[in-house]
Amino acid sequence: MDDNSFQHILSIDIGGSHVKATILNQAGALTMDYQRVETPKPTTPEKLLQTIVGLTKNFPVFDCISVGFPGYVRDGVVITAPNLDTSLWHNVNLKQLLQDTLGKPTKVVNDADMQGLGVVNGKGFEIVVTLGTGFGTALLMDGYLLPHLEIAHHPITKNKDYDQYIGEKEMLEIGDKKWNKRVQKVIGILQTVFNYDHLYIGGGNAKKIDFELDSNITIVSNKDGIKGGARLWRIEETPTVRPNYTAIQ
Ligand code: BGC
Repeated sequence: MDDNSFQHILSIDIGGSHVKATILNQAGALTMDYQRVETPKPTTPEKLLQTIVGLTKNFPVFDCISVGFPGYVRDGVVITAPNLDTSLWHNVNLKQLLQDTLGKPTKVVNDADMQGLGVVNGKGFEIVVTLGTGFGTALLMDGYLLPHLEIAHHPITKNKDYDQYIGEKEMLEIGDKKWNKRVQKVIGILQTVFNYDHLYIGGGNAKKIDFELDSNITIVSNKDGIKGGARLWRIEETPTVRPNYTAIQ
């Protein structure tokens, strides 16, 4: 659904450690300081809704809501929430819950996908990864989201997926030096597997990268990422085909 009549967008980024929110204008610029609070634990849908209500209660008026959620989301319904607890979230219609609670049209997508919409330059095949509690990934072609892949849960060693290999918990355990070596290895894999035109690295731990990056790799901030909430209202939440693409009959 496209809707260009919305002037002010409440953009919410739900992370494993913090929930961040701001109000964007249509062009994606922040109209107020970006606010954040800790993600409640255990992160039940009820507690998360209360946190969002508390966080946004003094915000200026907004017309619609965009949410980046840390898991697999289909048509606003959460399928998995690996870093929050999938057993609490499976089949929760977060889109409906937020629409009912805050009274505004809502779109919910994967958190890395929303960040991706905020940071890419829209040229060619771009990948956005986020280094935080988990390993978020978004793939975009000419600025449009490609179907979301949970690369975080592809095994990289015999007993670790990407979340377990370079996620926050592991980083704290192995230390920055070893973690950097692993991140460098992961970037090499992405380069070989995807041959991206540009790679963007965001998330709270991106600032810990201490090695030199190729010229087609850029570090981006969470603040840049949250801007994706504005673009989300100009594209489909769940891409199935590329724009102008005619499906084979
Ligand atoms: C989840 C992804 C999410 C990433 C960052 C991973 O554990 O599987 O869906 O994007 O964490 O939050």
